[in-house]
Amino acid sequence: MSASKLPQEPGEDPIRPHVFDGIAEYDKRLPNWWLLTLYVSIFFAIGYWMWSQHFRRDTDGQRVEATVQELRAAKLAAAGAFDDAALWAMSRSASILAAGEATYQTTCASCHGAKLEGGIGLNLADGDWVHGGTPADIMKVVNEGVLVKGMPAWGPVLGPKKTAEVVAFILSKHPAP
Ligand code: HEC
Repeated sequence: MSASKLPQEPGEDPIRPHVFDGIAEYDKRLPNWWLLTLYVSIFFAIGYWMWSQHFRRDTDGQRVEATVQELRAAKLAAAGAFDDAALWAMSRSASILAAGEATYQTTCASCHGAKLEGGIGLNLADGDWVHGGTPADIMKVVNEGVLVKGMPAWGPVLGPKKTAEVVAFILSKHPAP
């Protein structure tokens, strides 16, 4: 029996002109909700492509690199061995810098200025150092202070982790070697 010969009620959808194994199918219009999901996904795909290829500033590689640095710095900070390399690595970690800056603003800014520009204490951003500018030098001054000149010893107050974070924050204002 051919499809067009199948009995049909008036007003029914047309039947497509083929029959397989005695099965014919209605030629129905795709439902609106289905068409909507199709068009929305096409629209989304174009928008996503534009964003990922043209408007996003950092590449996948840069994001991976940032995450690796973040993890490396967190591991060094957790190990508590703050040698020069570890402190420089920490100075490139966004989360450690945020912690270091918070400590700096509450503990150091009153003497060294909110922008490290100095005041009662010395300028910490200009690259001139009275007590040496290596991470170990800065760590030592912050830990032990320069009591006769009015720089308190922060090691006992802040503990090693916070001290290292604040030193990393100061280092982030200087070019790494
Ligand atoms: C009460 C004021 C005061 C506070 C608070 C203070 N400092 Fe100082 N800091 C000084 C003074 C004064 C000096 C200069 C010492 C000298 O002349 O030898 C100094 C020196 C330094 C130096 C050495 C700079 C150089 O050129 O070698 C560093 C590093 C430093 N401070 C870091 C910090 C950090 C980090 C904090 C917060 C945890 C802090 N200071 C809080 C007063 C302060």
